[in-house]
Amino acid sequence: MACKLEIEPTGDIVEVQEGQTLLDAALRQGVYLPHACNHGLCGTCKVEVLEGEVDLGDASYFALMESEREDGYCLACTATVVDDVVIEADIDVDVDARNIPIKDIWGTVIKREMLTPRILGLWIELDEELDFQAGQYINYHVPGFDEPRAFSLANQPSTGKIIELNIGLIPDGEATPWIHQNVKVGDRRKITGPFGRFFVKRSANKPMIFFAGGSGLSSPKSMILDELENGCTLPITLFHGARNEEELYYADMFRDLEKKYDNFKYIPVLSNNENPAWSGEVGFTNDVAKKLYNNQFAGNKAYLCGPPMMSEACITALMQGRLFEKDIHTEKFFSKA
Ligand code: FES
Repeated sequence: MACKLEIEPTGDIVEVQEGQTLLDAALRQGVYLPHACNHGLCGTCKVEVLEGEVDLGDASYFALMESEREDGYCLACTATVVDDVVIEADIDVDVDARNIPIKDIWGTVIKREMLTPRILGLWIELDEELDFQAGQYINYHVPGFDEPRAFSLANQPSTGKIIELNIGLIPDGEATPWIHQNVKVGDRRKITGPFGRFFVKRSANKPMIFFAGGSGLSSPKSMILDELENGCTLPITLFHGARNEEELYYADMFRDLEKKYDNFKYIPVLSNNENPAWSGEVGFTNDVAKKLYNNQFAGNKAYLCGPPMMSEACITALMQGRLFEKDIHTEKFFSKA
């Protein structure tokens, strides 16, 4: 039997099916609730139950402590309803969010290609088009694994039913080695999405600086292609950090874009370059950005996607260069490898 879920302070009302989590019900009906891991581990989706009763489900004691349980809190990603419920959530209004309802879509793998020795590109033709904002991610359901894995969409929304995922190999992970070894053209796969609030804040109307490292290039690629295709004339700069030229991918595509669009600048940065013929930047993206921006980042919007160490170093550099936290955006999903 379905129950009613009312969300304060927005006043949104959604229907929750028996056994369905509060988060799943809200997102499927286009109502945003904060979330990151979707599996009761991080605490991002914590909400207070003001009225009614919920079953806490599989919430970890790390993410939802005993005292919080006693005070009437639950995790929206694990809690299911017992009867009609009113909750209070800490929701930031984002004027750039389209709040697209998530859904499950099946598709067929139509291409696989190693983009670097460690990053696999997968192209999937979906049975129906996925509506999303460039920068968002999907959950990819892997056969034999209980939890889906989250991957950013590397394609821009204009590619229709065809989506692209860039999957970095985490050698001691479980699902990414399996995907690298086993996924083949013709396989049928289910995805769920779109998720996340990492997208261009167009309402800000400010120049953009993207920092990408490893397979973290997926979201910036999608966002930059989308902006350029949609006629954005604001300056856009992409810093792409990689160890060496072998691990730099889509470099030719970005160099072509640089020639085609006056407002786009591509700056690949190699941290372990051993090729004397390389004439580009070397070192770390944060240091190169500081040098090229003269340590002055005020007036921009920054978007970061990559390994935590890279992101932390870039955030420090940006803040030292007078860019405030509200203008620094990072991707915040957590997914097992
Ligand atoms: Fe619910 Fe992480 S605990 S999203």
